[in-house]
Amino acid sequence: MSAPTTTGESTILIFGASGDLTARKLVPALFQLFRQGYVRTSPIIGVARRNKTDAQFRTELRATVLDAADQQTSKDWRRFEQLLHYVQIDLSDQTAYEGLVDSVAELESQHRTPQNSARVVYLATTPSLFDDAVSGLHHSGLIPPLEHKERLRVVVEKPFGHDLASAKELNHTLTRWLHEDQIYRIDHYLGKETVQNILLFRFGNSIFEPLLNRNHVDNIQITVAESIGMERGRGAFYDTAGAVRDVLQNHLLQLLCLVTMEPPALFEARQIRDEKMKILQALRPGSPASINHWVVRGQYSAGLIDGEPVPAYRREDRVSPTSNRETYVAMNVGIDNWRWEGVPFFLRTGKRLPERVTEIVVQFKQPPLNLFSTVECDGDLCDIVETQPNQLVLRIQPQESIFLRFSTKRPGMQYHVEPVVMDFDYEDHFSANLPGAYERLLLDVMRGDSTLFTRSDELLAAWKFVTPVLQAWEESLSSPELYSAGTWGPPAASRLVSEYGRAWREPRLDE
Ligand SMILES: NC(=O)c1ccc[n+]([C@@H]2O[C@H](COP(=O)([O-])OP(=O)(O)OC[C@H]3O[C@@H](n4cnc5c(N)ncnc54)[C@H](OP(=O)(O)O)[C@@H]3O)[C@@H](O)[C@H]2O)c1
Repeated sequence: MSAPTTTGESTILIFGASGDLTARKLVPALFQLFRQGYVRTSPIIGVARRNKTDAQFRTELRATVLDAADQQTSKDWRRFEQLLHYVQIDLSDQTAYEGLVDSVAELESQHRTPQNSARVVYLATTPSLFDDAVSGLHHSGLIPPLEHKERLRVVVEKPFGHDLASAKELNHTLTRWLHEDQIYRIDHYLGKETVQNILLFRFGNSIFEPLLNRNHVDNIQITVAESIGMERGRGAFYDTAGAVRDVLQNHLLQLLCLVTMEPPALFEARQIRDEKMKILQALRPGSPASINHWVVRGQYSAGLIDGEPVPAYRREDRVSPTSNRETYVAMNVGIDNWRWEGVPFFLRTGKRLPERVTEIVVQFKQPPLNLFSTVECDGDLCDIVETQPNQLVLRIQPQESIFLRFSTKRPGMQYHVEPVVMDFDYEDHFSANLPGAYERLLLDVMRGDSTLFTRSDELLAAWKFVTPVLQAWEESLSSPELYSAGTWGPPAASRLVSEYGRAWREPRLDE
């Protein structure tokens, strides 16, 4: 493999380095970047409260990251782990940061880090520590003066608040000492190759974009489905969050923005985020008073996933047995702009659905005249077969692909209609593995590219959109509608679309 040209070597500090995120996502991603030559000399400094030596830190991470490694991988790890260090401090103790500054300086000198290189601080801790962490960085002089603001980048993990008011408060906390340009709010969905491809597909081809508007599109559906439930103690967090906060407010709305935004004048962070922002501002929710007309809230009951029985949400570990938390949400929203006026957007996400699948379905209008319609019989049962609407499907995960459905003539003496699919499959076409989302996003932070990160105004606009829904649910005495685990959600979700004469596309992974 040839060496990459833009590496963006930086000092990387991970606050919360003994946690799950560090071991499962951050260090594996950094190791991959090391193996690909993007990280060569950057010291990676883990920070947390519990006491451990560099050697213990390396051994623990090796055990998690290297699962049955081959010889080459083990050799690479031995070189990589020389970059890993551990500094023990309590981040809530403001006096501890002086010691951190000394350790950072010492390690940078040990690794011969160039004087002006950037520092990346990854806040992999609970948001309740952000205030202390940012104040500590400021008071210890780790935040450079404004004219050198690019020398410090702070990565923030979701949740970015739990409603509009708390998101504003979190922003206030972060921007008290940091400039907005220094804050990288990570939404790992935007690091996925197929999500980035949405913009290239739309604006790097000339044949699709002219069709993506109210004149040709009948409706757009976005599904983010998960088959998992509350394994690995997830219930503790999820029962305070739910489907809207966990997925709809961030991943789903970001996908909606990417598939509907106008082309930016330049392909750069500010312009792309400006265009996404216009969509968020144009989102037309229904009224909170008539919420049941445009939003469906569901919760799973016991059922079967892959033939195995799974418990109801309320019986899950660390979930309240009387919880009204939504594990499913579906919405019908509109976008008030010239391109999309009148086109319904159906959004849905949920846990314990039959498949783990994320896809965007653009359903086109039917031809103006239905010329082809045949009667097909199987024994006594006869059906009228007509052309079906064209569909463009962007499959984000798994089996990343793009496919287009259209009608053809089945060979024979009559005009028998047969829907067929033309497809592009990432794995079939590109033999290389797709880079992981955290790899891409960490490298972008190191290079100072914020295109794939959420800006504060986008974040607040998304919260502004969903907060009235959350409030209306909290104030109502009703419970979420139950759906059996392993089904595509509550019956009301089908009504949400059938009321408009549409149906959800059922994702089929064998397609
Ligand atoms: N895990 C994921 O896949 C994931 C995904 C998306 C977002 N997130 C978010 O990322 C953050 C971290 O998640 P996580 O799962 O890694 O949490 P975690 O396993 O609970 O780890 C928390 C880390 O914070 C450290 N910490 C806590 N209090 C501290 C203090 N006063 N001073 C120094 N260190 C302190 C802990 O270290 P000590 O116990 O040693 O102090 C530990 O290293 C959370 O906000 C979570 O919501 C996580």
